[in-house]
Amino acid sequence: MPEPLILGIETSCDETSAAVLRGPRDVRSNIVSSQVPLHARYGGVVPEIAARAHIECIRSIIEQALSAAETRYGDLDAIAVTDGPGLVGSLLIGLSAAKTLALSLGIPLVPVDHIQAHATSAALICADPWPAVALVVSGGHSSVYAVHDWHSIELLGQTVDDAAGEAFDKVAAILELGFPGGPAIDRLARDGDPRAIRFPRALLNEPRFDFSFSGLKTAVLYHVHGAGRKYGSVAHLSPKQLADVAASFQAALIEPLVSKTLAAAQRLRIGHVVVGGGVAANSALRAELCRACEAAGLRLTLTPGPYCTDNAAMIAALGYQRLRAGRTGGLDLEARSGLLRPAEPGAARKLRPTSR
Ligand code: KG4
Ligand code: ZN
Repeated sequence: MPEPLILGIETSCDETSAAVLRGPRDVRSNIVSSQVPLHARYGGVVPEIAARAHIECIRSIIEQALSAAETRYGDLDAIAVTDGPGLVGSLLIGLSAAKTLALSLGIPLVPVDHIQAHATSAALICADPWPAVALVVSGGHSSVYAVHDWHSIELLGQTVDDAAGEAFDKVAAILELGFPGGPAIDRLARDGDPRAIRFPRALLNEPRFDFSFSGLKTAVLYHVHGAGRKYGSVAHLSPKQLADVAASFQAALIEPLVSKTLAAAQRLRIGHVVVGGGVAANSALRAELCRACEAAGLRLTLTPGPYCTDNAAMIAALGYQRLRAGRTGGLDLEARSGLLRPAEPGAARKLRPTSR
């Protein structure tokens, strides 16, 4: 009996993506259409523009994914779709497409949580991944999870204010590097000295696994423009000074991420660390995680770059596991803007077993 062929659909924010997956890890296609040029002039994602752009390309993206996988609609066994968290207008486009396909093809519809998909995305390249401590660092979320198994994902800590990706994007705006800022800071920081400026590392020595990045962003703003000042030109800084700010900011953001993730693994006696989300593409974070996990004797699986930023392959992969467990959804499935709540089975603290 061949493994099921799953179409994954992801439209939670500003990427329209569709992927075809056979079984747990065989990615036959993963098409991602980014809306970055549409939002760049506004310095961030505009929800109405995002939803319209998803409508315009969702059908073509799905057909490109099928064609790249040499698959026809009739070959599919299930449709996995992101139902949240995300922008409701954007989520609705993917959900409507997924429901239409599931209904017309007579195959199951499988809801997938976007953050849980980031937390488990490293499993696309490794068998036997669980238990693991998962660091999820994206534009909207920064969290540490204990992934006990596919259906038991326990939130250990999260940011109390800005997400790591949000901090990257805002500091990039301060440094006039454009949107999205993460890749631009990643590149610029390679020419800078991470020890040039000692930016604050909030909550670093607290035993809980939470993060805080909003003070770091303000510290960068005041360093560049003076205390109490607002955004402005950075023409007064030399290229070397700009690179030093980028590298020092990045180092101050990375240290708590790595330190808390390793502390969680050690406290829970879990020997495997996995990392996902857009910021997991950051080269300095990846290098520091490699160094720290090796020193601590921990196994580390870094999600490959294309599966770090938003993509439908990770949705199809978690969808495959949900399908196997019979966790399918009905046509009344709704878009969800926020995280699964702790009270919901499958959501946050001490959530064993989950419904997802
Ligand atoms: O996971 P993702 O694609 O979307 C969300 O679910 O939020 O993450 C997007 C975030 C953006 O803030 C972007 O600046 C950041 O990931 N990002 C990076 C890098 N590539 C993307 N941050 C740091 N370094 C990178 N190389
Ligand atoms: Zn994401």
